[in-house]
Amino acid sequence: MYQFGDYFASARALRHGVPWFELTNAVKLMNFLDALAPEGNDRVLALAIDPERIPAHIAIIMDGNGRWAKSRGLPRFAGHRAGVTRVRSVVEDCSHLGVRALTLYAFSAENWKRPRAEVDMLWRLLRIYLRREIEDLQRNNIRLQSSGRVEALPTGAYEVLREAERATAHCTGMRLNLAINYSARNELVDAVNTIIDEARIEGRLSGLVVDEAMIERRLATAGLPDPDLLVRTSGEMRISNFLLWQIAYAELYVTNTYWPDFDRAELLKAILEFQRRDRRFGGLTAPAAQAPVRSRETEAAPLAVASK
Ligand code: FPP
Repeated sequence: MYQFGDYFASARALRHGVPWFELTNAVKLMNFLDALAPEGNDRVLALAIDPERIPAHIAIIMDGNGRWAKSRGLPRFAGHRAGVTRVRSVVEDCSHLGVRALTLYAFSAENWKRPRAEVDMLWRLLRIYLRREIEDLQRNNIRLQSSGRVEALPTGAYEVLREAERATAHCTGMRLNLAINYSARNELVDAVNTIIDEARIEGRLSGLVVDEAMIERRLATAGLPDPDLLVRTSGEMRISNFLLWQIAYAELYVTNTYWPDFDRAELLKAILEFQRRDRRFGGLTAPAAQAPVRSRETEAAPLAVASK
């Protein structure tokens, strides 16, 4: 549980100019609490959070924009627009809480089946979001990256995505991973083909033996901790081809709340529920730390896992 002694030690560090991204999760949580209304429900929920067990990586299937709009007699695009507003607040809250990586399912490879006008609207919203957010992402030290076959995006959306990735490449705080034109099966197929191509070029195809770490290193999430918590909004009990490899041991949290209504209280409730789970990773007791994947290949240093 959270100790107030930690807070005073950390508050001293703050006064001595420790950069924000080096703060412990305990200090981040205190700062987060300071910004909340004293009597509000958000504060009650945030006080119950254990800063030592913030999920290192949260992945979210943002579902229910259409139903949110329909329930208000609005067109679907109004739901997507409200969904973008929610993206902003959840990104900011996760970063302030000390989440190390946040993956958002923004557009699946199957979403092209939607009416052209809706697909165009989603690209437009993505462009607007990225253009508007670059400065805020930089200010919050958030590094943006993407998963998915993004080269197939319309030029405008692709360029602004690459621009946002470049502009935040130096940021060392939370990693915001947008899954766009994403399919977990495609991702795995692409990883395997890359392994085969590399082996062919290097003349070692005949003896090739593939292991887990070789695949993992070729996923767009290489270097990130696996998601600890997978959230799906709007009540559907499906994974929808999302991060099939990475969520092997993620805790699943499904809420009936539509994505545009997934406010700070909903995020805190999801984290609290995660903190109540008994994670055993197939063993009988919770491990101190997840065992690393072994490989004969040299591994890139992974992003440090903040909390377990
Ligand atoms: C699911 O709702 C949502 C999507 C397919 C798109 C999610 C996109 C956004 C929140 C906006 C753009 C994202 C970023 C990162 C700027 P749905 O339309 O399937 O809802 P329904 O199931 O109720 O119809």
